[in-house]
Parts: sequence; structure tokens; C-alpha cells
Amino acid sequence: MADRNTFGIAGVMGWPVAHSRSPVIHNHWLQRYGIAGRYVLFAVPPEKLEAAVRGLAALGLRGCNVTTPHKQAIFPMLDRVDDLARRIGAVNTVVVEKDGTLTGFNNDGNGFIQSLRDADPKWRPDSGPVLVLGAGGASRAVVASLAAQGAKEIRLANRTLDKAQQIADAVGPVVKVLPWGERADALEGVALLANATSLGMAGKPPLEISLDRLPKSALVGDLIYIPPETPLLAAARVHGNITVNGLGLLLNQARPAFNAWFGVMPEITPELVRAIEATF
Ligand code: ATR
Repeated sequence: MADRNTFGIAGVMGWPVAHSRSPVIHNHWLQRYGIAGRYVLFAVPPEKLEAAVRGLAALGLRGCNVTTPHKQAIFPMLDRVDDLARRIGAVNTVVVEKDGTLTGFNNDGNGFIQSLRDADPKWRPDSGPVLVLGAGGASRAVVASLAAQGAKEIRLANRTLDKAQQIADAVGPVVKVLPWGERADALEGVALLANATSLGMAGKPPLEISLDRLPKSALVGDLIYIPPETPLLAAARVHGNITVNGLGLLLNQARPAFNAWFGVMPEITPELVRAIEATF
């Protein structure tokens, strides 16, 4: 049995890591649930990742989040990685088990899906075809999680077709790859449009897409949360769709991690949302 601090410590390893909002979320919950502990930033350069990961159990930490550039590199340093994280090809959460071994998870895609269900309780991953735009790490998490939760048809469009094809190869035939130029036509009949490109982010050009073919019943989700309403979400709102930004992903991916580390499934309250928004 590994020794654990009674004072529960967790954190996020990244390089750089200063921009992370995770301390606000987890420290808010620690205080709210009266748990003695702290969530801290670990600025870990790539060449020190292995030593840092090895130190997790020795220091009695409960676990950590992992962010850029460590999400793939950490795989061989873990004792086990769950199936979904393996399919995504990235770990965002590490749990130090009671025996000191390390398990890797990826809650990003499921966090996004949960935020969509919170916004529209009638929507489910198998409600109808889905169009995902983008094929970076965020897209991969969303596509693999949608498939794992029963999506029947995932249309995937990306500027670089080959990257979309790689996701389709990893996730399976439920993913239909489309050229970037066909994104507007691919809106026909969808129950969800999800933007996983960086287009629309503060300082980046907007995502250009005609919403003429988008059903008004479709949910529109953007993984971006700065700005809180991207030009895509503003256009979709005007079009009559329910819209969801990336803040819900950030908050919902943190819930199962907090539960695994501290034994309480925490709630997302308006007060917590305000605390995060105050950091923008
Ligand atoms: P993340 O890890 O957050 O997913 P990323 O890996 O940098 O970020 O992915 C960014 C996504 O935005 C990619 O799908 C990228 O398209 P490419 O794969 O073709 O690079 C997409 N993207 C960025 N700028 C774009 C642009 N000007 N037009 C179209 N897509 C763009």
C-alpha cells in the first residue's frame, strides 16, 4: 500500500502550463466540499516528464491532469491506459491507484458530450448524423467519444484530408471523411455540428460555413471558449439552434477526475462558471 498524504494533492503537468484554468475548478470544489487539499500547476519540460510521472506515487499525490505537449508522450510511463484514451491516442487524466500504480484516462470527449446533453436533454449521440470540423487532438477525442457513445454516422471534414483519414482509420467505419470544401453540404440532416478547429478563437479568423442546410433542431457545439460566443455560435443562435461553447467541456472533463482523486462527484454550479469566466 502506497502512503498517501491526508492532504490531497493533484495538479496539471504541462509546458507551458500557466494558462490552465484547472486550478480554479478543482480548488473551488475542494473548498466547496470541505476537502483538505490543493490542485497546483506543475511546469514540466518534456525531458523531465518521466521523472515527474515516476514521482507522483512517491510524493503521495492523488493524480494529475496532463496537457500539451505530454498527452501522448506519457503513454509508456503508465501502468494501464483505458480503452477510450487508447483510441483517442492521448491521456488527459492520471489516477494514482491505492497500490501506487498509474492509470490514464481521457475525459475530454465525454466532457464535451455531457455539456451537449446538459444544454439539450433530448439530444443523444445517436440522435442523428454528426458533422465534426477539424482533425487535431480535440477532434480525435470528440470523434472517438461520440463513436464509443453510439453515434451512427460521424461526418468528418478537415482542411488536411489525410489527418481526418487517420482519425477514421483509428475509430472505424462510422467515421466518413469529407473534403473541407463539402462542409456546408454535409450539414444536411445533422443532429449536431461540432467545431474542433481553431477557427473562431480569439485572434484567429472565423470559421466560414453557410448554415442554410443546417436543421434548426440541430445542436451546435464549439470547443472554443474564448471568446464565449464564436462567430459560428452567434450565427447558429440567430439561425435558431441551441448552442454550446467549450467551457462545458472544460468543466465536465474535470468532474470524473475530481471524483477519482478525492472521492466526490462534484457539481457544476453558476458560482463555479462565474469564477472561471472571471479569469477570461
Ligand atoms: P487541437 O489540439 O486543439 O485540436 P490542432 O491540433 O492545432 O489543435 O488542430 C487545429 C485544427 O484546426 C486542425 O484541424 C486544423 O486543420 P489542419 O489539420 O488542416 O491544419 C484546423 N485549422 C486551423 N487553421 C485552419 C484554417 N485556416 N482553415 C481550416 N482549418 C484550420
